[in-house]
Amino acid sequence: MSTRIEFWNRMDNYEESIISLYHRPGTSQLLQRIAAIVTPETTAADIGCGHGYFLGELASAKRILAVDYAQNSIDQARTRAPRHTEFLLQHLAELALPEPVDLALCFSALMPENHTQALLMLERLTHSIKAGGTLLLVVPAMESLLYVINQVHYHEVRQGREKESISQRMSEFLSTFNNPLGYVRSSNGQVTKYWLAEEIVSQLQQAGRTMGLEQFKVPVTWRDYAAEADWQQAVQPPWFWGWQITCGVES
Ligand SMILES: C[S@@+](CC[C@H](N)C(=O)[O-])C[C@H]1O[C@@H](n2cnc3c(N)ncnc32)[C@H](O)[C@@H]1O
Repeated sequence: MSTRIEFWNRMDNYEESIISLYHRPGTSQLLQRIAAIVTPETTAADIGCGHGYFLGELASAKRILAVDYAQNSIDQARTRAPRHTEFLLQHLAELALPEPVDLALCFSALMPENHTQALLMLERLTHSIKAGGTLLLVVPAMESLLYVINQVHYHEVRQGREKESISQRMSEFLSTFNNPLGYVRSSNGQVTKYWLAEEIVSQLQQAGRTMGLEQFKVPVTWRDYAAEADWQQAVQPPWFWGWQITCGVES
């Protein structure tokens, strides 16, 4: 079993170990987007459902598919999922839903190990949606990571700690953000992928079936990235990128 799946299988205390968007300030707009789409006729999937926090938002859908490659995530999700949820243990790169769906969520679960796999995952996602259906995709923003580093640095310059700040920020940057492609090993040892907005858009275009794209920001909290401090209240919080993607037929 891959060490990545083992990582998710070991995860008990989700909130202390990882960002669930469900408990972040940007979540309300995700819930509004879901609520505007789901009807009793909807078939819906939560891809990379994790511990299942978003599954309740799909409760009124006719069919709910919850997909994750970690058995522990599926087990945890079962404890809070609507009763008619069907669970699938699948890898995103080999995603094979029993039928294309009207709505798929993929929140903080697009974590490829390389660029070939990234494109494959996006292809599997867009091909899992009915023509005219919607993919709601949320990923960590690379731009936000750089923004956090800059804001911390600006603050330290204001405090007169410019010299030490620069060397400390650069060494922190190099120890976590250790390659130019956005694959990052976080403090809990998990490799994740930060995405440039333009990168996702370009990959979605290559993946095919993308007809309409609406991009939005999903604010997260400062404590997801840096120790909390008073000055952070005066500046915009870090964010994840979100897209509401309308899928079409193959052109
Ligand atoms: C950060 S959690 C997000 C969970 C949920 N979407 C949420 O926002 O609360 C990531 C989840 O995606 C799953 N995951 C990561 N990579 C995956 C992959 N390649 N295929 C299927 N599931 C994956 C993990 O097992 C984990 O449960």
